[in-house]
Amino acid sequence: MENFNFYSPTYFVFGKGRENEVGEWINRFGGLKVLLHYGGSSAVKTGLLDRVKASLKKNNIAFIELGGVKPNPRSGLVYEGIEICKREGIDFLLAVGGGSVIDSAKAIAAGALYDGDFRDFYCGKEVEKALPVGTILTLAAAGSEGSDSSVITLENGMLKRSAAGDALRPVFSILNPELTFTVSPYQTACGITDMMAHVMERYFTNTRGVEVTDRMCEGILKAIITEAPKVLAKPDDYDARANIMWAGTIAHNDICGVGREQDWATHKMEHELSGLYDVAHGAGLAVMFPAWMKYVMPHNVMRFAQFAVRVWGCEMDFQHPENTAKQGIERLEQFLVSIGMPIRFAQLGAKAEDIPTLVKNMQPGNQTVGSFVKLTEEDVRKIYELAV
Ligand code: NZQ
Ligand code: ZN
Repeated sequence: MENFNFYSPTYFVFGKGRENEVGEWINRFGGLKVLLHYGGSSAVKTGLLDRVKASLKKNNIAFIELGGVKPNPRSGLVYEGIEICKREGIDFLLAVGGGSVIDSAKAIAAGALYDGDFRDFYCGKEVEKALPVGTILTLAAAGSEGSDSSVITLENGMLKRSAAGDALRPVFSILNPELTFTVSPYQTACGITDMMAHVMERYFTNTRGVEVTDRMCEGILKAIITEAPKVLAKPDDYDARANIMWAGTIAHNDICGVGREQDWATHKMEHELSGLYDVAHGAGLAVMFPAWMKYVMPHNVMRFAQFAVRVWGCEMDFQHPENTAKQGIERLEQFLVSIGMPIRFAQLGAKAEDIPTLVKNMQPGNQTVGSFVKLTEEDVRKIYELAV
């Protein structure tokens, strides 16, 4: 196991009706003037936004609204938010929505305390300070409610890039599983795929002696595999939604990634797909993860065989462990199909002739991508081809 620091300062406020406490939580962190950030329409339609505003008013918290965050959130709205924060003396960001709203709020929070262009953070500069961000999560997926990162589509070039820094970790995140009852089956499945991907990016590692985090990863994946069909069959199954919601958070606040090298090549390849085609992140991952696995499996057949046996219950073929390893990848693909995810380029609307553009946008140049296997540009091209 490698040395590590683990910092997850977020208060997770979990359960039914907890969004009604939001004003008290903002008070606790000293917020006096809030930018209330939300998405297209879901938070308005469900009445959630009215409940949030009532709690802010009850606690004498002033607020300015900025709605309209699109999935794959754009830099344009971030600039607008930063401008409002600076002009109005905003001291707290409240994100009400899914990963896109939270990521947009994080970008605004960092940009509001920065004199330069906020894009610098999305081109490699670490975020060292940001206004405090609180979240009310409405979609279990990206894990941004507990993560130190934010992903924004920079409109000039439509490149999707991420920023990171502990200052981006929310001070609190309110998780009421009931708020996810209205999420469509497709978005629910995209979220499930994303959280599984967050675990798998950590699971496939070269670090040895990480039994605790291995078992945590396997446990989270097994729980997701069991709960996923339940939420799809019965969208208002509270316990199933609750389990999926908590899985999404712990899949990405790094509790199961500590002390081990992590990969993240598949996320990088997917971000190019959602940048170019504006597809849902989870759907892009469903296409890219099995392709990446098929390509890198020979690097450590036994780790893939372990994944097959412990996560999918496959039987170990000791004579030919590569058969077991392949079975695990097949089982993952079958599962993704069963929850309604695409697993090939065409189903996503992506085109083979765009592969050179995807590879170029990723700009690996002489740099490699990922760590389980350090992928060159040529490797990345071949993995995209496997996904066609
Ligand atoms: O805009 P509204 O009307 O709210 O609709 C949203 C949106 O259309 C809808 N939705 C959200 N909550 C709902 C709901 N519909 C009905 N009922 C509800 N309760 O769902 C749609 C998708 O929302 P979005 O926020 O885009 O989805 P998700 O949470 O999957 O976030 C995806 C974004 O997160 C990034 C992705 O790249 C993508 O841009 N990621 C962020 C990470 C992070 N910051 O740590 C890590 C991830 O790997 C990921 O890259
Ligand atoms: Zn993700």
